[in-house]
Amino acid sequence: MAKPKVYATHSLFEAAREILQKSCEVEYWAKEGRPPREEVLRRVKDKEGLICLLTEKINEELLSAAPKLLVAANVAVGFDNIDVAACTKRGVAATNTPGVLDETTADFAWTLLMAVARRLSEGEALARSGKWKNWDLDQLVGTDVWGKTLGIVGFGRIGRAVARRAGGFQMKVIYTDAVRATGEVEKELKAEFCEMNALLAEADFISLHVPLLPETRGLFDAERFARMKPTAFLINTSRGPVVKEADLVAALEGGKIAGAGLDVYENEPLIHAGLKRANVVLAPHIASASLETRTKMACMAAENVEALFAGKRPPNILNPEVLKTP
Ligand code: DGY
Repeated sequence: MAKPKVYATHSLFEAAREILQKSCEVEYWAKEGRPPREEVLRRVKDKEGLICLLTEKINEELLSAAPKLLVAANVAVGFDNIDVAACTKRGVAATNTPGVLDETTADFAWTLLMAVARRLSEGEALARSGKWKNWDLDQLVGTDVWGKTLGIVGFGRIGRAVARRAGGFQMKVIYTDAVRATGEVEKELKAEFCEMNALLAEADFISLHVPLLPETRGLFDAERFARMKPTAFLINTSRGPVVKEADLVAALEGGKIAGAGLDVYENEPLIHAGLKRANVVLAPHIASASLETRTKMACMAAENVEALFAGKRPPNILNPEVLKTP
C-alpha cells in the first residue's frame, strides 16, 4: 500500500525523520530559511500530512490548496498560526508540541531577566570593544535580582517553571491568571495569586507566559506600563502581539519602566527600532532553542502525524472532534 504523502516545511532533525520514514513518504523543504508561501501552497496540493513551523499560516488559503490534507502538525506549542476552526471544518487534525519545551523556555526567560538586570549586553559589548580601560566602582551598575519580587502573568506550565527557579534567588513570587492554581501548587512554588493591577504595582520583574488569544492580544499597553514601577523590567518569551510594541517603546523612552528582555515581537522578524536601546535585551525568538528541546519538538510533531496515519489519536491533537472516535 502506498504510504501517505507528507510535506515538511523544514528538514527537521534526523530523529524525527526516522520516525516519519517508517510510515510516510515525506518531501522536505531543505533550503536555507523559510519556504516562500507559493512554494508551500504548491507542495501541499497532493499531501495528506503537513509538518509546519510557527512561520507558516495554516488558514483557509492553505487548506483550500490542500484538498487531501488530514493532519497539520505544528512544531511549536503556540498555535496562533493555525486556524483550528478552519481545520476542524475541513476535517483536518491540528496538533502542537506541549510540555517538552517548558523548562528550556523557562531557562531562557531567566536568561533575559538576568541579562537585562545586570546589563550583560552592554558589558559584553564593552569587553569585546577593546575600549575597557579599567575596573570602576560605578561601572555598568545594574539592579539586583535576588530578593526581589517576580510577577508572572500566565501561570501555566512555563509560568510555573519560571516560578520554580525563583526560589534559588530568594524572590517573592506573585502571579496572575484567569484560573487560580490549586493551593497545593501555590504552596509548592511559594507563589501568591493576585489581580493584575496588584501584580503590576508590586513586581520588580514581570514575565509573560500567556498564549496569544483575542483576549491577550495587546494585554500590555500604555495603561499597564503606567501601573508598573519605574524600576521594573518586562520579560516576554510568550508571543510578541501580547505587548503593544509602540506603547512599550513609549514606556521605555518615558522612563515608565526600567527595561525589557524580549524574545518575541509584534511583527517578527521585524523589531521596532525604538526597542534597540541599551536597557533592552533582544533575542530572535530562541527561548526553546536547545538542540535537545528542538529535537523533541520535531519528534513530537512526527509522532502526531504517525499516529493519525496509524488510525490512532494523535497525542497532542487540538481538535479531537475531527476524529471518528475522539
Ligand atoms: C512555541 O513553541 O510556541 C515557541 O514559540 C517556539 O518554541
